[in-house]
Amino acid sequence: MKRIPMSRRAALLALGGLLSLSAQAQDKNYPTHPLTLVVPFAAGGPTDVVARSLGASMSKTLGQPIVVENRTGAGGTLGPSFVSRAHPDGYTLLIHHNGMATAPALYKKLPYDPLKDFEYVGQVADVPMTLMGRKSLPPNDMPAFIAYARANGSKINLANAGPGAVSQLCGTLLQDALGTQFTEIPYAGTAPAMSALLGGQVDVLCDQTTQTLPQIKGGGVKLYGVTTLERIKALPDAPTLQESGLKGFEVMVWHGIYAPKGTPKAAIDRINEALRIALKDPAFATKMNELGAVIVPPAKQTPEGLHAWLQSETTKWGGMMKKAGIEPQ
Ligand code: MLT
Repeated sequence: MKRIPMSRRAALLALGGLLSLSAQAQDKNYPTHPLTLVVPFAAGGPTDVVARSLGASMSKTLGQPIVVENRTGAGGTLGPSFVSRAHPDGYTLLIHHNGMATAPALYKKLPYDPLKDFEYVGQVADVPMTLMGRKSLPPNDMPAFIAYARANGSKINLANAGPGAVSQLCGTLLQDALGTQFTEIPYAGTAPAMSALLGGQVDVLCDQTTQTLPQIKGGGVKLYGVTTLERIKALPDAPTLQESGLKGFEVMVWHGIYAPKGTPKAAIDRINEALRIALKDPAFATKMNELGAVIVPPAKQTPEGLHAWLQSETTKWGGMMKKAGIEPQ
């Protein structure tokens, strides 16, 4: 073994001490500049709505702004791909939903492993989805829509945010349950998909209440039902798809916060603290409540809670897609 002269060893030890001191100092003062929260879908859509409101609340605890960056494309896989390669310094975060669990079953060459390439901060809220038609679509309720969908199949245009998006997942399960095939039109997020529905350029959209409630209440679209097994408080008169004939139909959207693998634990702890405080912040909680979202219980607001949930959802959706004959592309 090569011997390191005493004077060099002392210098190396001193440097090591200085580096760890400066890391501690950095940890203590973290964060010292704005953080970026990557949203993998278009601005103004349901994920973006949660991200901006959550970011505003978390920044009160962190003492630094959280800047939302929309990195759209490939069904919401470009955002996580970017974050998995970002510098793990605690300044880049990702918000994502069920797409983290479904992407491995949809993409052969996914450039990241959702279960390994991130640090996990915690879950945020669960959001129901709503199935809607354009205002001028003939059916007025779900039973009529089921008959119309079976009779018209591919003449019906279904908008979504691409493979990996929950709008696409919901549409896939719907077509499967109806035994019919629509024509799918992918957008960079459901904000532009909703504009297309409002403008009558597409026929049908399944999307989260965090974007759809104002449009439904304003009468801009026709509501056929909600995707939860039970009716929801925000739309008590809306039937579930299950009670309208699609037995067992259920999609609930959940959101989690991630950081690049290797982000220091001290930073993750600090971000997690800001997350948990935000989930109790009346400004955030009231807004979520008004939009039909339900804040997750404390056990899910943790790194372990998010990772365990992601693991079980990956198994669940992977199995369901295999059963439905969906092959990764
Ligand atoms: C989706 O998965 O459909 C997204 O939530 C869309 C979006 O946030 O724009």
